[in-house]
Amino acid sequence: MLKGKVAMVTGAAQGIGFAISEEFAKQNADVVLTDYNPKVVEVAQDLAQKYDGRISGLVMNVMDNDSIQAGLDQIMSSLGRLDYVVNNAGGGVLKPFAELTDDDFDQTINLDLRGTFQCMRAELKLFLKQGQGSIVNTGALGSVYNPGGMGAYNAAKNGIMGMTQAAAVDYADQNIRVNCVAPGLTKTPLNDGGFLDKILPTVPMKRYETAAEVAKLFVFVASQATFMTGQTILSDGGVSVGLK
Ligand SMILES: NC(=O)c1ccc[n+]([C@@H]2O[C@H](COP(=O)([O-])OP(=O)(O)OC[C@H]3O[C@@H](n4cnc5c(N)ncnc54)[C@H](O)[C@@H]3O)[C@@H](O)[C@H]2O)c1
Repeated sequence: MLKGKVAMVTGAAQGIGFAISEEFAKQNADVVLTDYNPKVVEVAQDLAQKYDGRISGLVMNVMDNDSIQAGLDQIMSSLGRLDYVVNNAGGGVLKPFAELTDDDFDQTINLDLRGTFQCMRAELKLFLKQGQGSIVNTGALGSVYNPGGMGAYNAAKNGIMGMTQAAAVDYADQNIRVNCVAPGLTKTPLNDGGFLDKILPTVPMKRYETAAEVAKLFVFVASQATFMTGQTILSDGGVSVGLK
């Protein structure tokens, strides 16, 4: 379905970013998996065995402008185009508000909010030159809902929602869409610690989301939702609309 299109995903060595990459691959896109962890290269090689598209891995640190630019340049020189990007790399320190240190706050804001900003800015410049493109950022349930203990993470994910709206309006008439998908409770290496188990009883659907199911939504928003821009779409099992 997406044959001939090129997708790039940040933070793709594992978890949701890997699942999004696999979904793009299933839909026959060419996919570049990027991550600051060099294991992404091997992960991409393994994925390439399973699908027909051109699939490769690239080391890219979303907190480093030079690394982002070098990655985008490499994609353009090897694949010649870039249609969809998913800015997925993220995470954060989860603590009650009064216990957050300056370092906790900076670390979370720098990875989630600034990292997404730096990627968006470079991607938008590329898309403006190319004349088209679609960005999907990664929010979280924490963009709009507070299970507690998410002061810095909430600030970052809420900010990503705001940046999504701002960039969407700036470039809506230039064939560039910018949206955000906010996953719910998803079991990944990020939350091995069991934090999510405590809040699972508050999820109306009473189960975790799988990385594979939210990945389908990311790919749909990136590639099929062609009149949608500036939106943050929650995939949260009902958490944001009520208690059960
Ligand atoms: N898992 C959840 O329940 C959940 C819920 C809502 C939102 N999210 C969001 O989804 C995204 C992915 O989460 P996940 O659960 O798959 O996390 P994860 O920790 O399993 O994977 C994150 C990936 O990002 C990479 N990464 C970290 N810092 C990076 C950097 N500076 N540059 C490039 N790559 C970097 C890591 O190496 C890792 O491969 C994050 O933005 C997270 O906030 C996750």
